[in-house]
Amino acid sequence: MRIDILTIFPQMFPPVMGEGMIRIAQENGLVEIKYHDLRDYTTDKHRSVDDRPFGGGPGMVMMCGPIFRAVEAIEAQSPVPARRVLLTPQGQALKQALVREIAKEQRLLLICGRYEGFDERIRIGLEPLEISIGDYVLSGGEIPAMVVVDAVVRLIPGVTGHPDSPVKESFSEERLLEYPQYTRPVEFRGMPVPEILRSGDHAKIAEWQKEQAKIRTARRRPDLLS
Ligand code: 6GU
Repeated sequence: MRIDILTIFPQMFPPVMGEGMIRIAQENGLVEIKYHDLRDYTTDKHRSVDDRPFGGGPGMVMMCGPIFRAVEAIEAQSPVPARRVLLTPQGQALKQALVREIAKEQRLLLICGRYEGFDERIRIGLEPLEISIGDYVLSGGEIPAMVVVDAVVRLIPGVTGHPDSPVKESFSEERLLEYPQYTRPVEFRGMPVPEILRSGDHAKIAEWQKEQAKIRTARRRPDLLS
């Protein structure tokens, strides 16, 4: 997979993309991530990417010109067509089902917004998938783009070590949160590991884990059970 990220803050990305699973996936050639500075596609001496809204109102609006020129130039760098994704609080909420869908793409182009929003002709002309990472307002689409990259890259075949780990977890098809887990020591500050987990009875353990997952889900995310 190739992921292109278009942003006015390309320097935000390498520290995050240069660690952990995303770094290893790039080193193993499973994903190629490229950053593009939107200001490289401006035409005025101030390198403007935004302007005041027609009709008045607060804030600034991302202009069409730099974004269209950037998208066209970036897409021309490879013959593979890119799935365009606009990170915006107006987008479809990111859920694991949507992550699974976009993880099937060969090429993603993530467009990060700043300021109050995008000129509507960016939506009309580029027909991007619009994604939000949740119901709160962030100052820009950069952190959401990192969230999308992390969620997608870990689903690329070969990225995670154990082939079971990306499927048997929270928000997989069974829609339950994960059961409580323990590792050594057997007792820590007066808190023991539940006896059943040390019993060696794998059928009983699986039953306990399923029950605990249901209890935890009912307490924390009753919406997942309805
Ligand atoms: Cl994608 N962008 C911004 N600016 N705020 C958000 C968001 C995106 N998702 C949730 N809040």
